[in-house]
Amino acid sequence: MDKKWKTSIAGIIDGEAHIHGYKVSDLIDGVTFTDAIWLELKGELPSEKERAMLDAILISVIDNGLGPPSITNARNSASAGNSMQAAVAAGVLGVGESHGGAIEECARLLQMGMSAEKLFEKKVESGDRIPGYGHKVYTEDPRTKQIFQKAKDLGFYGEHCELASQVEKVLEEKKGKKIPLNVDGAIAAVISDMGFDFRLGKGFFLIGRVVGLVAHIFEEWVREKPFRRISDEEIEYDGTSPRKLPT
Ligand SMILES: CC(C)(COP(=O)(O)OP(=O)(O)OC[C@H]1O[C@@H](n2cnc3c(N)ncnc32)[C@H](O)[C@@H]1OP(=O)(O)O)[C@@H](O)C(=O)NCCC(=O)NCCS
Repeated sequence: MDKKWKTSIAGIIDGEAHIHGYKVSDLIDGVTFTDAIWLELKGELPSEKERAMLDAILISVIDNGLGPPSITNARNSASAGNSMQAAVAAGVLGVGESHGGAIEECARLLQMGMSAEKLFEKKVESGDRIPGYGHKVYTEDPRTKQIFQKAKDLGFYGEHCELASQVEKVLEEKKGKKIPLNVDGAIAAVISDMGFDFRLGKGFFLIGRVVGLVAHIFEEWVREKPFRRISDEEIEYDGTSPRKLPT
């Protein structure tokens, strides 16, 4: 009889866990963590070049310090006395369209087969931003440069990476300033050239970033006092002055 829950990813066969047909015990002995991630997502083991590219992508998103919302969310949650899983979940919820989440939408746009000009028109002329471009700190994102260099070296710099670079040029021409292709955009372009569906985009950021979240949560516990709060010097109330309730 047809069962209600079906998966082709993993299952227990003859009492042993298998992933896409490989025994987990064989995988433990024979492959790297990145190989296993690729296997889960693609159903086959990666080539050496694919492994090296995916490794680079995952490392690039692990952590970039205390500033971004995913890390502050996780640390604030840990500081409030939550468990590891609750604080990781808080950190994951700090990922959004402006932080980490741009990979998916950028990959979707790049995979639509539009020209750079058309892509600019579609997004910017209708009042939106192009996901994967712009950065709070960098005018040129060093991680983009490195990821693209690696993609070139390993043979993954294809039509989507080319299009992403063209869009950066069009943005600069039309906006009159450099709005750099950021690491999310670079990852979006490379995963597109590696044949991944755009809907996996956020997944790459999350797989890497959870490592950073776990480390920061643990540091918060062992290094800081609980109940961290924003210092009063950084807080300003500018609402209505004190007043009496109407009688
Ligand atoms: C990352 C981001 C929040 C940084 O913002 P910021 O440096 O504070 O940029 P600002 O909000 O000051 O915008 C500066 C100008 O650049 C433009 N701009 C910034 N990012 C843009 C983008 N992705 N597409 C089009 N225009 C953009 C803004 O419209 C603004 O133009 P204006 O001066 O004509 O109004 C912003 O670039 C963005 O929203 N990018 C898209 C989402 C993304 O890729 N996030 C991942 C970040 S790693």
